[in-house]
Amino acid sequence: MAGRRGLSSTSLNLTFLGTASAQPSSTRNHSALALRLNSDVWLFDCGEATQHQVQRSKVKMGKIEKIFITHTHGDHIFGLLPLLATMLNGAGGTADGVEDPRTHMVQDSPDPLEIYGPLGTRAYVRNGLKYTHTLLGAPYVVHELRLPSDPPDGDHTSLALHAAESPNGRNIPQTNGVWSDVYHDTIVSVSAAPILHSVPCIGYVVTEAPVPGKMDPAKYIPHLKRTKTPMSVMSRLQQGESIELSDGTMLQGPLKRPGRKLVILGDTYDPSPIAELASSADLLIHEATNAHLPALDSNTKPEDTFESVEARTKSRGHSTPQMAGAFAARIGARKLVLNHFSARYPGNDDVDPTAKTIMEGIAGLAEEHYSGKIICARDFMSFDVNVPQEHAWNK
Ligand SMILES: *[C@@H]1O[C@H](CO)[C@@H](O)[C@H](O)[C@H]1NC(C)=O
Ligand SMILES: [Zn+2]
Ligand SMILES: [Zn+2]
Repeated sequence: MAGRRGLSSTSLNLTFLGTASAQPSSTRNHSALALRLNSDVWLFDCGEATQHQVQRSKVKMGKIEKIFITHTHGDHIFGLLPLLATMLNGAGGTADGVEDPRTHMVQDSPDPLEIYGPLGTRAYVRNGLKYTHTLLGAPYVVHELRLPSDPPDGDHTSLALHAAESPNGRNIPQTNGVWSDVYHDTIVSVSAAPILHSVPCIGYVVTEAPVPGKMDPAKYIPHLKRTKTPMSVMSRLQQGESIELSDGTMLQGPLKRPGRKLVILGDTYDPSPIAELASSADLLIHEATNAHLPALDSNTKPEDTFESVEARTKSRGHSTPQMAGAFAARIGARKLVLNHFSARYPGNDDVDPTAKTIMEGIAGLAEEHYSGKIICARDFMSFDVNVPQEHAWNK
C-alpha cells in the first residue's frame, strides 16, 4: 500500500514468471504472474519454482503483499509454501528443548501477507506448514472465496491455526454470482468470479479507480473570488464534481479518466460467469493450453482436426487459442495475452525461429475470432499496462 499512496499516476506492470501448463519444460515454468503496482507486488498463482523465478526477475520478493490463487491444482500452488518460507523467515529450527520464538507469534499483527483463493487454500497452507514443521517469523492470512456449494464457514481442515496464521481470514460469499471488491484501496480494487474448469477455479479482475483529471486553476479561481466562494471547493472540482455558484454560474471540474481494468483468468474451458465483470478489459489474460497447427507442429496426429482438438481440450477443462480469442471479442478486451501452454509449445520464441513460428501460429488462431492485439506470453516477459490512447490526454 505504501508504495501506491500519493502518486498521481499509478504504474501497472506485469511480469510472467511461469507460462507452462501441466508439465514445465526447459523453456517454461509453472504458472505465476507478478503485477507490480508502483512498488508493491501482487502475485497471481504460485506454481513450483516461483521463488526461483522471482529471484531471477526484476520483481522484488520483499515487496510481495498479496497472492491470489486461481485454483488449487498443483501447477498453480505447489510453489506457495516454499515462497512463504523464504519470505516470512521460515528456515531452520531449534533442538534440545530450546524454544523457538516463532512458536509464539502475535497472530493479529497488523499487516499479514494476504493470500486469496478458493476453498482448500487455507487448509493446504496450514497442513503443508504443519507437516513440514515449518515455523514462520511473520504472519500470513488466507481469505477464501466460497462458492454457493461450499460450506459457508469453517476451515476445511481439523488442524488448529498455525502459529503464524492470522485468525482474521475471511470466508467471502458470492453476491449475484460474483465476489465483488474482495479487496480495495483508494487506487485499485479486486473482484472475482468463478470460471469453468475441471475443479473450482477463479478469475480475478483488478480495476484501477477513476483517475482525477488535470486541474487548470485559472479556469476556476476568478469565479470563486467573484462570488466569494470558499477555495475549499477546489478539492471537489478536482474530483470531477460540478458546482453551482451563488450567481448561478456552473463550474465543472475536469472529468476523470476511467481506470484501467486487468482480467486475469486461471485454467478454463468456459469463463462465461466472469464475462460481465470482465467487460471492456484493457487486458485479458486467458489460457490457451492446446492448439491444432497441422502445418507447423510435426507432432500433429493425422486424424486430428480443429474440432477434435477443441473437444479434447475442453474435456480436460482447457481452451484453444480460438476459444480465448472468442472470449476476448465477447467482452470487448483491448488486448489479449495467451498463456498456460502445453509443454509441446516452447517458450523461447524470442531466440528460436521454429518456436517463433509456432507461437505466431497460435496467435493467428486466436486472431480468427479477435481483432485486437494478441501477445503469447513467455517466461520473464514483462510490460506496462498503459493508459489507452484516447484517455491519455488526462494523464
Ligand atoms: C524454471 O525453474 C528452474 C528452477 O529455478 C530453473 O532452473 C529453470 O531455469 C527455470 N526455467 C525457465 C524456463 O525459466
Ligand atoms: Zn494449470
Ligand atoms: Zn488446472
